[in-house]
Amino acid sequence: MTLYGVGLGPGQADLVTVRGKRALENADVVYSPGRLSRTVATKHVPQERIGDLDFPMTRDEEKLRSAWKTAAAEIAPQARDGDAAFVTLGDPNVYSTFGHLRRTLAAFHPEVDLEVVPGVSAVTAFATALGVEITAGSSLALREADGGVSPTGPDRMILFKVTDAPATHEGLVEAGYDVTYGRRLFMQQGETLVTDDPHDIDERDYYTLAYAERPDARVEQATDAFLEGVDEAGVVSDGGEASIARQERSEGELGGDEVAE
Ligand SMILES: C[S@@+](CC[C@H](N)C(=O)[O-])C[C@H]1O[C@@H](n2cnc3c(N)ncnc32)[C@H](O)[C@@H]1O
Repeated sequence: MTLYGVGLGPGQADLVTVRGKRALENADVVYSPGRLSRTVATKHVPQERIGDLDFPMTRDEEKLRSAWKTAAAEIAPQARDGDAAFVTLGDPNVYSTFGHLRRTLAAFHPEVDLEVVPGVSAVTAFATALGVEITAGSSLALREADGGVSPTGPDRMILFKVTDAPATHEGLVEAGYDVTYGRRLFMQQGETLVTDDPHDIDERDYYTLAYAERPDARVEQATDAFLEGVDEAGVVSDGGEASIARQERSEGELGGDEVAE
């Protein structure tokens, strides 16, 4: 049988995918690595099917390895004899505890079959929450910013683990970035906050990210013409003199997708 690594999405129970919900409903036992993921999982499975795992809050690698071996030893027989699930917030393959479990199972219980159900990651959910659009032709880098560090370089960055927003902000602004912060986005626990002011979020909360963009990074889009007074046919509507404008754009730069639907 199978162990399903299920991504729960950012934290609201109705952002679990249909496939993820099905995997949770069909599993004999559902393991969660933390309180928040457990809260989401219990919206889809009864409490009595939630399995207990103990993870120490430590950076001691020896203790962590020991905890993962214990967890894998608990999960492996459940996934051999039936179906089990291990949930994580966001996506199981993006900065996730599931990676540790997968590697430990591969080392000590290679007979366990694994299937991953992707989840809505904060990597993508942030864009909607912060009102950001990553347009065709632009790039986005994912970085970590724990302990007040300020990674710089790319035109656009999403920063995870913003634990000291004022310190991170200082470095980013100095390097010329505009920065917006998002805390507890699409989460059912705690208050969602979106702000440009790092002092609004100077109290540490692990579920905080930042989006940093260089002001001159915007990539022009074909549809910008609509905002400049050019109608659908490419005709300038406000000049009195009809002219076919930006014809090349509509032919060659529909917006980055291979096929315009
Ligand atoms: C260890 S990573 C887990 C990422 C997760 N697996 C995913 O795919 O979204 C944790 C970091 O992701 C960011 N994060 C995850 N969920 C978030 C949310 N709902 N709101 C804001 N930030 C979030 C925070 O920066 C947090 O420190």
